[in-house]
Order: sequence, then structure tokens, then C-alpha cells
Amino acid sequence: MDSKELREKFICFFKERGHRIIPSSSLIPDDETVLLTTAGMQQFVLYLMGQKDVIEEFGTRHLASVQKCFRTPDIEEIGDDTHHTFFEMLGNWSIGEDKEKGYFKKGAIELAMDFFIKEIGLPKERIYVTVFKGEGSVPRDEEAISIWKEHGFPEERIGEFGMEDNFWGPTADTGPCGPCSEIHYDRGESYGCEETCGPNCEKCNRFVELWNLVFMEYNKNEDGSYKKLSQKNIDTGIGFERLVSLLQEEDSAYETDLFAPVIKKIEELSGKKYEENKKEFRVVADHVRGSIFLIADGVLPSNKGVGYVLRRVIRRAVRYKKELGMKSLRDIVNVFINEYGDIYPELKEEDVLQVVEEEEKKFIETLQAGVAELHKKMPKASNPKEIGKKLFLIYQSYGFPFELSMEELEKMMPGAYNNAEEIKKFFNDELCRHQEISRKGMKEKFGGLSRNAENEEIKLHTATHLLHQALREVLGDHVKQMGSDINKERLRFDFSHPESLSKEEIEKVEMIVNEKIKKDLPVEKKEMSFKEIQREKILAFFEDEYPERVTVYSIGDFSAEVCGGPHVKRTSELGRFVIKKEESSSAGVRRIKAILQP
Ligand code: SER
Repeated sequence: MDSKELREKFICFFKERGHRIIPSSSLIPDDETVLLTTAGMQQFVLYLMGQKDVIEEFGTRHLASVQKCFRTPDIEEIGDDTHHTFFEMLGNWSIGEDKEKGYFKKGAIELAMDFFIKEIGLPKERIYVTVFKGEGSVPRDEEAISIWKEHGFPEERIGEFGMEDNFWGPTADTGPCGPCSEIHYDRGESYGCEETCGPNCEKCNRFVELWNLVFMEYNKNEDGSYKKLSQKNIDTGIGFERLVSLLQEEDSAYETDLFAPVIKKIEELSGKKYEENKKEFRVVADHVRGSIFLIADGVLPSNKGVGYVLRRVIRRAVRYKKELGMKSLRDIVNVFINEYGDIYPELKEEDVLQVVEEEEKKFIETLQAGVAELHKKMPKASNPKEIGKKLFLIYQSYGFPFELSMEELEKMMPGAYNNAEEIKKFFNDELCRHQEISRKGMKEKFGGLSRNAENEEIKLHTATHLLHQALREVLGDHVKQMGSDINKERLRFDFSHPESLSKEEIEKVEMIVNEKIKKDLPVEKKEMSFKEIQREKILAFFEDEYPERVTVYSIGDFSAEVCGGPHVKRTSELGRFVIKKEESSSAGVRRIKAILQP
């Protein structure tokens, strides 16, 4: 069955059974507590919680959709058989079963069995299911077990698992969630590890999870407790790519009609074979597909939040494309737009191409700066220790991954690869050393100013935030605070940067800080959760040191930083900012001393 037919079949099946088909929502959710749409239920959260009336909005409790989704935790895994950044999710919902005409576990299981077995013809003897075994305050799902038994599943084909596998959600820190039943498919012994293996086996991929039926009747609260929702809901999801692979009898979606035209195009453009370069082909294909969908939903590459996700996937696609020896991503973009354009009309060729190509240009410029730096530094580096340390500086300044630097190095110093392991060890030592300095800096930062800090010190503290951001604007985003010390006379700020600042750079930094002071920007304090901090990419470099909730100080739109305070109310209180000294603090760390004049 081809993928288009499967989408159609799913939609028709649920339409015929009284469901209203809801178009996919954007990859960027309205809900500010999450970064991206990661599941079909995202657009229905308020209805699931009973905060919005589903009948008033949709005229029915029964909904179904094919939803665009994007997940980032697995980005490094892309290239294997099953992970994707962008994917589609087929789902159906019954919102408020206890109200008139809703359905709950029995109805959801019946629909799932009908679709899988009667509609698309999966052999029932290959199907295994799992249920929630009970954990913490949520009891064992006796009801689901007895419904599966009524459907003819013997006990040995009903697996019982805990919170980790059979309790789904919420997508944010709090929100709707519940125990779930998963439907797994047995691909046969040839995929297995041993006779006793079953669903959720960690050693092999004989069993694939196809459909997740969530019995959504809880809300997770801020204190971590689960409270019953005012209504019961069904929320289900099928990973579309996975089902397509199974129906087309392939091990991964890259070999199905979803990706076949693109894989063919990459072979054509690179002159290389997919079978011999699977990882590179798959990364390029996955990331280009993910990028075009993000761009179509209005995302632009940046260093914050979802813009940073886009930047990362485009840059990774460019790196792997380079490895395959391909010139441009243009034709790949076109193939995807042809394939998906009639299903998702928001995909517009010109917009997408422009964004991708501009970002590629920026990335190439950065790479070239990194290579030039490498050339400049290398002649003096003779042994693995020196090389490792230098590669770390390049990594820190340009985000040049170790492997890429090693490739360039090999070109300049043939044979360097022979020492790769040793070089990597010194690279890692340097990384640890810097993290340690960071940690110390953090302690200083939170311990930094005492509550009754003098007025002058408070002013210098706000000036430190302005300086930090100004340095990032002038020198680049690799600049990170490594330490800070303030007394009544001056501020001292240590930050990561590989070389001394030029006179022009110092002047520019001063100018920016003074400009922001003149603008009389408000300084505001906000409480945020660590998740929110990550989402907004607020300056915060010391992840393992943070408490659950932290305070963030923002200065107009210019700067936002995790900080214990205190600060002035408005920047005009600061006076004139003057940098007195710029010097080295330790390898890869610079130090600035600055004062404020009335
Ligand atoms: N929300 C559940 C999931 O993502 C079911 O769709 O698995």
C-alpha cells in the first residue's frame, strides 16, 4: 500500500465512523509551555482538559487527524532505521467519554482492531499488546486487560509495564496524561534475540510499536502529583512512517515511497550508492524534510528556541551533503515539495529555498573562518596535547565539531588521524577543564552580590549583563561567561574567546553598551522553569547547577540571563560605561575590567 493511500484510508475509516477530520496544526504550537508540536493531541490540549468546549468548537466529541510533528531529542540518532525529526502522526480522539456519545477504552480498542485487522489487513496473530501494570498512585489497568481478553488476546500476548512504557504524557511539565495500551507488531524470529523476547525488548527490534492508545484521565500537577481530570478522553497516535515501512515490508521509512524519490535524487547528485552511505543519505533526507516543514510554518534560523532547532538541522544537512560531495540542496528541496505539496499547501518552493540557501551561506562562512583559524594555529602545534587543546579552542569559537576539525587537520598534516584517539583525549580534558571553570563562575554568580550590595555594585552588575550580550553580538555566540567579580570601583568579567580583542572590537562593545544605557531600557525580573529557559535559549550555561525554578533578568529586548540579582530598574541609572582593560585570564578565556562614570 503506498503512503498516500494509507493516509486516505485512515481518514475515510474515521470519517465513516462519525469522526470529524481536523487539519494538521502548525509545528509551532499556540501552547507556550512547549517548543514544538510533538504529538497529534497538541492542538486539543485545552479540550482534553475540559477548559474549552469541544462540541461548541467542532460539533462532535470524535476527531481524527494526520498531524505534522517534530521531535528533537533524537537528533544524533538520525541515520538509524527508526528515528526522524519531522514525522506524521495519525490519531483519533474521543473527548469527554462520560458525556453523551463519547467512547473510552472499549470503543478505542474496537476501532483500533477494526482498522488494523479488517481495514488494512494486519494478521491478528502477529499483534501483541501492552497495558499499564500500576505504579505510584495510578492503579493497574484491569479494564483494558479484560477488554483485550474479550478481543481474544491470551495473557501471554498482553504485556504489563509501568510508568516508563505505559503511561503517556504530559508534553510539558504539567498537563493531561494517562495510562496507555500499545499495539505492537511481531516482525518474526529473524529480527529477534531469543525466544522469550517480547514488546519493549531492549536487545532487538523484533517487535515494533505501532499504535498508542492513551486513556487520558489524569492531569499532572506542578508538584508532580496526578489528579483525575474532570472528564475522560481517548488520545491515540500511530507513527505514520513506521506503519508505512511495515506495510511496504521495509526496515525503515527511507526505503519506502515516502523517501524513495529523494534517495534516488541524492544518488544521482552525489554519484554515490545509498546502500554504502546510508547514514549520510538519511541525515540529508531527514533534515531537509524537517527544515522545509519548519520554514513553511514561519520559522527562521536563529540562535534561540525553535530557530536554533532549524539552524541545527540545516547545518547538519549541509555537513552531510558535503560529505557526499553534493553541491546544493536545491534539488532535494524540490523533490520533497513535489511529494508533499498537495497534502501540505503551506510548502512554498521559493520561500524554503531562500532560507535554506542563506543559512548554508552563513554556515560556510563560519566554517571557512574556522579552517583559517586552524591553519593559523596548527604550525605551532606539534604534539597530540597541543593539537587537542587547539582543536578545543576552535570548537569553542566556531562550534567546529571535533570530527570536522580532524578532517581538515588530516588534509594539512597527513597522518594526523593516527593520533586521533590521543588528540581526542586532550580535547576532552580541555572541555572538562572549561566546564569546571564555568561551574565556579556560576557559584560566584549566584553567590555574587549580597542582598545589601551597595548601589554602585548593583549598577556594575547590570552593566555586566549588557557587556555579556554586547560581546556576543560583536564576537559571536561562542562567548560565555566564565567568571564575574564586582566591587564598588569596577566590574571584572571573564569569558570564553580564543584571542585578544582588537581596538575596534573593544570600541564597538563599549558603544553598544552605552547605546543601551542611553535608551533607558527597563530591567525586569521573571521566574521561569528550567524547561522554559532552555526553550527560549536564555543565557544560561551551567545546566547541572540549576534549581527547578530560576529567576531571569531581562534588559529590554537586548539581554535575558539567568541571575540571582539585584539589578537597577532602568539602564539610564548607569552613567557612562568604559572598558579599562582587556587581557588574557587563562587559555581560551579573556578578561575585561570596566567602570561606570557618572
Ligand atoms: N499522544 C500519544 C503519543 O504521542 C498518542 O497519540 O504517543
